[in-house]
Amino acid sequence: MRTPILATLGLMVLTGALKAQAPGHWPPDSLLNVQVIPRTTPVIQVIGQMRNIVGSLGVRCPFCHVGQEGMPLERFDFASDEKRTKVVARQMMRMVQEINRRLDTIPGRTSSGPQATCATCHRGVSRPVPLTVLIVEAAQAGGTDSAEHAYRALRERYYGRDSYDFGEPSLNSAAFRLGRASRFDDALSLLRLNEELFPGSSAMYVFRGNINLMKGDTTAAATAFREAVRRDPENDEARGRLRDIGQKP
Ligand code: HEC
Ligand code: HEC
Repeated sequence: MRTPILATLGLMVLTGALKAQAPGHWPPDSLLNVQVIPRTTPVIQVIGQMRNIVGSLGVRCPFCHVGQEGMPLERFDFASDEKRTKVVARQMMRMVQEINRRLDTIPGRTSSGPQATCATCHRGVSRPVPLTVLIVEAAQAGGTDSAEHAYRALRERYYGRDSYDFGEPSLNSAAFRLGRASRFDDALSLLRLNEELFPGSSAMYVFRGNINLMKGDTTAAATAFREAVRRDPENDEARGRLRDIGQKP
């Protein structure tokens, strides 16, 4: 009996499709769905590139690829574009190429000048946003407790890494921005937290004074500016602010 030709063709197409997509072995023989990386790039080099991305963003393969943490790599579907993060990452790859093309046009730049990479912005986190911004966002969403919780959790996890600046200015700036948004209590609470971390700072008391001025509390502002001067007699900004509001240092 003759096998119906269409059925055979159908079967061939089907196994072809399965072979292309499905999980087979690791590393793969060829690249299936690359749109930015040149198709002829050796697979091993692509894997190296992927390892760099993982390190730069502080994530693992399943952040972008269909598969589960701990699952053998041959069972991942690396060619699939199902995850939004993978599509964003591809856009980011194009953006980085564009940035580097622009960098190459800097007059006098040599070919060994620094290149932009994912790590230039990401520094170990998937959402590269300054600490100040994260704290302001947390305060606006859930008040002081959320902001403090966010700060302490980030500090616990990232202190000593490249991702966030845990120096004194970050919370001062967050407090200032909250003050400008008329969230005075949140702003002053953040300064109390900062005082706990950086006791004795004079600059912080200038922020405290400025936030009290925004709040309309000139007496508290004067007390804060005087404390700034007591902590650092050379603090000209604090002296100037006191003069501005008609007070003696
Ligand atoms: C931040 C997102 C992201 C992470 C994390 C990531 N990848 Fe990728 N990966 C991509 C993108 C985007 C492409 C497609 C690039 C293109 O279109 O040129 C890709 C392509 C691939 C391909 C080629 C697939 C094909 O089309 O044949 C392999 C293999 C791969 N990644 C492996 C890995 C491995 C292994 C890891 C973990 C070590 C990993 N990737 C982590 C974004 C990511
Ligand atoms: C010039 C700075 C910059 C560079 C370089 C950069 N990114 Fe991004 N990336 C961002 C910013 C900013 C965001 C947040 C965008 C948003 O939320 O709208 C982001 C977001 C992402 C996201 C989405 C994260 C999420 O949780 O939604 C991925 C994935 C990503 N980047 C991957 C990469 C990869 C991979 C590279 C290197 C090829 C790269 N980025 C290079 C600035 C950068």
